[in-house]
Amino acid sequence: MPAQPASARPPLFTWEFAADPYPAYAWLREHEPVHRTTLPSGVEAWLVTRYADARQALADSRLSKNPVHHSEQAHRTGRVGIPGERQADLMTHLLNIDPPDHTRLRRLVSKAFTPRRVAAFEPRVQQLTDRLIDGFAARGSADLIHEFAFPLPIYAICDLLGVPAEDQDDFRDWAGMMIRHGGGQRGGVGRAVKRMRAYLAELIHRKRADLGDDLISGLIRASDHGEHLTENEAAAMAFILLFAGFETTVNLIGNGVYALLRNPGQRALLQESIGRGESALLETGIEELLRYDGPVELATWRFATSPLTIGGVEIPVGDPVLVVLAAADRDPARFADENTLDLARTDNPHLGFGHGIHYCIGAPLARLEGRAALTTLLSRLPDLRLAADPEELRWRGGLIMRGLRELPVEFTPERTADA
Ligand code: HEM
Repeated sequence: MPAQPASARPPLFTWEFAADPYPAYAWLREHEPVHRTTLPSGVEAWLVTRYADARQALADSRLSKNPVHHSEQAHRTGRVGIPGERQADLMTHLLNIDPPDHTRLRRLVSKAFTPRRVAAFEPRVQQLTDRLIDGFAARGSADLIHEFAFPLPIYAICDLLGVPAEDQDDFRDWAGMMIRHGGGQRGGVGRAVKRMRAYLAELIHRKRADLGDDLISGLIRASDHGEHLTENEAAAMAFILLFAGFETTVNLIGNGVYALLRNPGQRALLQESIGRGESALLETGIEELLRYDGPVELATWRFATSPLTIGGVEIPVGDPVLVVLAAADRDPARFADENTLDLARTDNPHLGFGHGIHYCIGAPLARLEGRAALTTLLSRLPDLRLAADPEELRWRGGLIMRGLRELPVEFTPERTADA
């Protein structure tokens, strides 16, 4: 029999790819697991798609997070990093620095952003979740992204940081401008980041004079061997907590609910388990949703600072490397039935929160919000269903994140007490 011609690589970075990147990633994993590509911005970068390579790359200290290691071409195009953050004082955040600065800042923030602080925040997250669902439960329909997944994390982080209630809607607006970046509103993003930065600087200044129980006060108070965060560092930290903790959580809720609606058998199991007051399936289920269709498609930029090979491929110094978490987390060499959503999966060391020294510091908060969102939605709106043709749903086109622009749903309206 004549040999079958190798199938052609499905195109990357098209609208079809945004809707379902997994076939293209499966092709890359199999045929060209470390693939040099030209990104839509014009920057050339390496995509790492196999689980073992991805895990190794995320922990490789020769891959720097500091953008001063951009190669010439990335510098020229200037399209690397968070838009608007090129204001120097915002650059010193955790995702842009290496040890020893990273070690120092991470230790300081860990003193303030503790698991205890997050656990104590649970009743507040539940209250926010219920309040948002109250806003549409009697209507029988909603756009779950705009009315629920989007505002929940922004209000939660604002509360945690200590942004006064009367200012939180400004944050909601700025965050809205930032999230639309995927739609190409770059100028708007820059303005939103600038305003947020000015606001945070002012807030930190005020808090320093009147420390409270909030996270910003905690950041100001945090000290390590007599070292404190400077005001700039505290502002950059507050900014990255917001930036890293916002759209990711929107997508956990959006992609998660969508995956459940597309997998009715799994959704029924979860709903029954929640109805019995059990938590085990919810906990493994959140991890599985992070693996199956996680919020962060590609880990943030890394740059080769010395020659190295990944999966046998030589990476020249200065080249950007993007670890494709979405591809690694469906690698059949690590995950059985990689394309199946199995909420009870226990052997699940997914990379959805990253790996190594930059592992997500907000993971406990994200899990808490994910649990509250899914439990409350499925309990209060038990017949929740998709109100759109899945083919017509639009996905945001940004490079790093993966998430829906809208998620229209229907359900039997909740009866209010006075109905
Ligand atoms: C880092 C995912 C929620 C704050 C990361 C990284 C990933 C990630 C993959 C590593 C990026 C890399 O190495 O390039 C997620 C997901 C979330 C989530 C999937 C929601 C489901 C949050 C929340 C916060 C947060 C709620 C804070 C409020 C951070 C910070 C870093 C980080 C500050 C940088 C840590 C460092 O560099 O040391 N996150 N994240 N994240 N995340 Fe999250």
